[in-house]
Amino acid sequence: MRFRTRLYVNLDILSDNYQKLKALVPGREILFMVKADGYGHGMIPLVNFGHNELGIKEFGVATMGEAKSLREELPGQKFEIYVFSDIHFQIESSKELLLNQRILPVISNFRDLDYVLSEKDFKYLPLILKFNTGMNRLGLSPSRLEEIINLIKSKGRKSIYHLMTHFSSASLAITNNQNQRQASVFKQIKTEFENHGLNIERSSMANSGALEQNFALEETHVRPGLMLYGPKSLIPKLREDSHWDGQIVSRLETYIISVFEVNKGDPIGYGATICPQDGVMVIIALGYGDGFSTRFEGAELEYRGHMGKVFGRVNMDMTQILFKQEALKDIRVGEKFEIWNHNQDKILNFSDQTKTIPYELFCQLTSRVPRVYGLEL
Ligand SMILES: Cc1ncc(COP(=O)(O)O)c(C=O)c1O
Repeated sequence: MRFRTRLYVNLDILSDNYQKLKALVPGREILFMVKADGYGHGMIPLVNFGHNELGIKEFGVATMGEAKSLREELPGQKFEIYVFSDIHFQIESSKELLLNQRILPVISNFRDLDYVLSEKDFKYLPLILKFNTGMNRLGLSPSRLEEIINLIKSKGRKSIYHLMTHFSSASLAITNNQNQRQASVFKQIKTEFENHGLNIERSSMANSGALEQNFALEETHVRPGLMLYGPKSLIPKLREDSHWDGQIVSRLETYIISVFEVNKGDPIGYGATICPQDGVMVIIALGYGDGFSTRFEGAELEYRGHMGKVFGRVNMDMTQILFKQEALKDIRVGEKFEIWNHNQDKILNFSDQTKTIPYELFCQLTSRVPRVYGLEL
């Protein structure tokens, strides 16, 4: 466990982001995606706060394991949990959880649909269907729509609890053919269900990228993940036109554990990377053991108005950052050093430089970095 390095999670900001999102999608229900441990921020505290303080009623996770820990850690709470991919209907322990813990599985292939509809135990399981409208990953195939509808009707089902699809390219322009095609295929699927007398109680398409572009808002639900944690998800050239102006809920803060002057030609750290200039080397208490990857070498980070560069090989426990000589007067051992903070630009700039995405920066932080929660942190 880290001694002082922390991921501070400001729940006031989560609340502000949620209010901003609600203003973007008036009248729509929000299914908050909290998979991968709440995008690295801690699923349990976020769901607890989201449900009890913000009134969010529905949450999305990827695996039955995540759903199980939500039910175990937050017993008796009335929120709904959707599980999107890692379900295993046929396994007894999974079946038990689905039936006894009110967990909602998203069905994304014909075999699982057939199984659910044929099993007596699942007679009252709400039908949540995800269609593959062009992502070509998971999802029921629209080419089997007729067969799917007939099967559902033949088992006496009269309604679909939630019909959904997922965009492959929502971070690209919404005018993009792929996005337009997916939305149009989804509409056709909905119409077919309705034409066959099957009621659709809920439907959703939009994730962050679509929401940032005011797209696919006509369904009953939206399914945001990233934007509620703060960052815009659109590709750089579209960011300026994004409708999202949330703040980053977290701040990754580490400490300076050493500062020393270096000369051009000095070998530094593992691999003995040669210093290209005279300057100031700052060692921070963050390394790949915390999720700060060796691939971040060369990325620039700002500190008190000075630009430094991740220098040489990132270590397991620490990282060298090279500053120009003039930074020396402003840098002291023991002071805090932010990798990202609540500002959009800082994390997006870092993810652009490191060819990562904010999703990944959040998720790859290891459990060695304690998450600290609070209001106005
Ligand atoms: C099915 C589904 N819906 C919604 C989301 C949320 O996406 P985002 O974090 O881009 O808003 C995800 C995330 O990958 C997802 O898999």
